Amino acid sequence: MSTVRVYDLPTRVFHWSFAGLFAAAYAIANLVDDESARFAWHMLAGLLLGLAVLLRLAWGVVGTRHARWSDLSLDPRQLAAYLKGVVAGGGRRWAGHNPASSWAALVMVAMALGMVASGLAMATGIAPEWVEEVHEVVANTFLVVALLHIAGLVLHALRHCDALPASMLTGRKFGVSTEAAVPARGLVALLMLGLLVAGGATLVRAYDPATQALDLFGTRLVLGEDGGEAHGVHAEGEAHDDDGDEGHDDE
Ligand code: HEM
Ligand code: HEM
Repeated sequence: MSTVRVYDLPTRVFHWSFAGLFAAAYAIANLVDDESARFAWHMLAGLLLGLAVLLRLAWGVVGTRHARWSDLSLDPRQLAAYLKGVVAGGGRRWAGHNPASSWAALVMVAMALGMVASGLAMATGIAPEWVEEVHEVVANTFLVVALLHIAGLVLHALRHCDALPASMLTGRKFGVSTEAAVPARGLVALLMLGLLVAGGATLVRAYDPATQALDLFGTRLVLGEDGGEAHGVHAEGEAHDDDGDEGHDDE
């Protein structure tokens, strides 16, 4: 039996952009001093991750069969049967996301949106202090889910002797019905990649390392040391609170 393409190119472009940008945002947040000018790259990676998610949300509505949100298998009984199959062997083959991957995908996309929302709230100075706590806890939970996702793929591959992990690279799965086949949608993938590159370039262009400020849609986000502002993060412009008693505070 030959392999069948189940993941189109836009889904794969999203996957590796998402994984790469998450890793970059997480690594920078933990390895770079939050008062260093380089910490701004954390925010830029996080915002680009937000753009990737928005594009994927749209593709989940109009994309090919296994890219659609409606194709996720979220029935808890199917999840239980799938996990039983991984432990004991057997169980059905999934052309699209298996139930464990479906839940992992949903949770990770939701957490990414939460990270961007809480990050933006902090960077515009409107967030109360606890938001920073939530941002950090969600980041670490996100990491755990991503690691579980990778461990699950390895376990699946070992247990079922198939190359499931490679399907997000090649787009192809072995042993699924040819009816599950989807077109590559190369032009959409190119457009998605182009939008991500343009989004990244726009962010980098809007960011001024000298002032550590990012001018974004009329709001000036400043990430860096600033006279005792909360962790050096504040915003000017629309969201600015300039009564000298800004939204959040040092530890
Ligand atoms: C070696 C690393 C990785 C491999 C080989 C891999 C592979 C895969 C595969 C094969 C699927 C589809 C699973 C299925 O058909 O049931 C998938 C889905 C997914 N993975 Fe990964 N993954 C990796 C790392 C990551 C990381 C680090 C993240 C997040 C930070 C991530 C996020 C996702 C998401 C969000 C989906 C759903 C994709 C979509 O529907 O657009 N993956 N991954
Ligand atoms: C998935 C994306 C993201 C991840 C994984 C992530 C992760 C983290 C982590 C782990 C911290 C704690 C760092 C520390 O102080 O030790 C942090 C802090 C922070 N993040 Fe994010 N973040 C993400 C997206 C964003 C975005 C989009 C923004 C802004 C638009 C943002 C703004 C901030 C700010 C302002 C802080 C506080 C830094 C400080 O302590 O001064 N983050 N983030």
